[in-house]
Amino acid sequence: MAKHDVDPNYLDPNYEPVVNHAGNRPFQQVLSSRMQRRAVLKGSVGAALASLVGVGLVGCGSSDDETATVTPDSSGDTGTGAGGSPDASLGFKAVPVSSANQVVVPEGYSAEPFLPWGTPITGSYPEYKPDGTNTGAEQEQQVGMHHDGLHFFPIDVKAGGASSSEGLLVMNHEYINQDALHANGPTDANNNNGVRPADEVRKEIAAHGVSVVHIKRDNNGTWDIVFGSPFNRRVTGGTEMEIRGPLRGYSKLATKFSPQGQRTRGTLNNCSMGPTPWGTYLAAEENWHGYFANKSDSGQPREQLRHGVSNASRYDWELADNGEEVYSRFDVTPGVGTATEDYRNEANTFGYMVEIDPFNPDSAPQKRTALGRFGHEGVIFAPVKDGEPVVCYSGDDSRFEYIYKFVSSQPYYAATAGGYLLDEGTLYVARFNEDGSGDWLSLDLQDSEFSAKVAAAIGTTVGDIAFDGFESQADVLLNTRLAADIAGATPMDRPEWGAVDPNSGEVYFTLTNNSKRTEEQLNAANPVANNINGHIIRWTEAGNNHTATSFNWDIFVFAGEQGMETLVDGEAVVTLNDDNIFNSPDGLWFDYNGLLWIQTDGRDEAPYQNNMMLAANPETREIKRFFVGPTGCEVTGVTGTPDMATMFVNIQHPEANWPDASDPRPRDATVIITRNDDGVIGA
Ligand code: FEO
Ligand code: CA
Ligand code: CA
Repeated sequence: MAKHDVDPNYLDPNYEPVVNHAGNRPFQQVLSSRMQRRAVLKGSVGAALASLVGVGLVGCGSSDDETATVTPDSSGDTGTGAGGSPDASLGFKAVPVSSANQVVVPEGYSAEPFLPWGTPITGSYPEYKPDGTNTGAEQEQQVGMHHDGLHFFPIDVKAGGASSSEGLLVMNHEYINQDALHANGPTDANNNNGVRPADEVRKEIAAHGVSVVHIKRDNNGTWDIVFGSPFNRRVTGGTEMEIRGPLRGYSKLATKFSPQGQRTRGTLNNCSMGPTPWGTYLAAEENWHGYFANKSDSGQPREQLRHGVSNASRYDWELADNGEEVYSRFDVTPGVGTATEDYRNEANTFGYMVEIDPFNPDSAPQKRTALGRFGHEGVIFAPVKDGEPVVCYSGDDSRFEYIYKFVSSQPYYAATAGGYLLDEGTLYVARFNEDGSGDWLSLDLQDSEFSAKVAAAIGTTVGDIAFDGFESQADVLLNTRLAADIAGATPMDRPEWGAVDPNSGEVYFTLTNNSKRTEEQLNAANPVANNINGHIIRWTEAGNNHTATSFNWDIFVFAGEQGMETLVDGEAVVTLNDDNIFNSPDGLWFDYNGLLWIQTDGRDEAPYQNNMMLAANPETREIKRFFVGPTGCEVTGVTGTPDMATMFVNIQHPEANWPDASDPRPRDATVIITRNDDGVIGA
């Protein structure tokens, strides 16, 4: 068995193979973005931007300097936006940056770790063993690893209630730390006759997926698991699931397990999520490509190529020593027979938003294929009223990938709403124009504009792919990225979480960073070369109607060091300072009071130190650091109780012995944040 060379960060979202070589750069966009760039470099920003309504730009220095995007601030330390008064809405004292191996919250707040990896939550509630000897079967009954997106569902939400003392906390487990997971680290197949012990593989698959935990607060304000609750559940990388929507039954999803292409096993690399308007949970499948190996000499099909599936899988699950198909299915190399005799199509059953009904523990998760197949970071639903279509937004977190919107065909009615609404509708991809406008480009073959572009692309090479057409709408959705290339979408700086402002209806997305973007690849929405710090973009749909096919966008803030300015019409609307420097925005959430929470997954070095969470006022652009995580972690996943007296924040991949200094293993955990006076968090 030859040693394969896989980057240790292969499934880390910070390691993103650049697989979009389409380079959607209409000629006019190149010209106008260069004009804009030149204007900023000259410093005559106001004049150049007078016609660019609402487009924020950062002042730029020398482009080959790591700190090129920082304009030193001579005017002092205010981070308050124009028109806002300090502390108008953010009623806490900002916390300083920190490199301590502990959680930091503002004065008057408390933070407690909760539900660390390995906590027993179901079945026989097997105890966590700090020596790493829990078995695969035990891990299937314990909280998974690498906590990510999470949501608190009030226990009475389906009856229209809003309990803030009891509910179902549902969270994703994005990937794993193999060294911490096993007693003595993972067994390397290269040193073990080319195989991995099956129970190690079982445990790794079980540490992925989703946890549903019934929790309750006692009269002293302490939250705990409701032991024995029928709602407590683990969904893992092995749980049986249904394929729903246009890809259900498509021949390219046929496997030996499901020759009809209707079912699959497991959900993987679940990053962010989205609660639906009908009280269910959608888990995103982000960097799923890394779990599969295609060892074929004759190249990969486009539905793997456009995602970076390689000839080796990150964890070698396909090499489990018992040869069972539940593991060997991760080898997607075509066999000599037909597709229903092997698992060549297994990777085609991943890359979706997966609906889990936490209130129906016996229900099979449903992969909602109408929302597209790509590196879904998460999903965010627009507010919806009876009689309106359901609208949701999802980012594809990889360098130069896109932001999508789904609009349901059928109208929403609260009394009858359900996941079926996500099975039929139109998928759009975003084009951000240079003038601050934007368009939603349909990816439906019934759309004349899209079908004309598809027809024109046949016989050409789109990126690395020789394009010979789409045989059906199912084929379009299977190859969503390729369809978006052809439609002419705007390649973004890694779209991570989205959030919809409950007051204004504006949609926000984090663009975490993109160190690969060159000067030649700039566009107005992604205007920073070597964008190591990232930015947050936002838009208003035309007529403030989420089903609209056009919008107006601006940039909410550019991340960076002290003095980084975000300019609108030449005026600094944000100048970052000690209270709010940050890089690589990732998690994003509007709480129930309209505050915007921003989480980071970036360079945890000076001057930023450990990753953090900040709060922002969307109107004034006031931003303050609220929370800093322990050493080596990313801060990802935030939710709260309806009264906002309890906040839940996830800490992923802490590096040292956190949260328990006496435990040799780092444990991902949720942090419960409360105010000592029981007041509203952030206010
Ligand atoms: Fe899983 Fe894009 O972070
Ligand atoms: Ca993320
Ligand atoms: Ca990230």
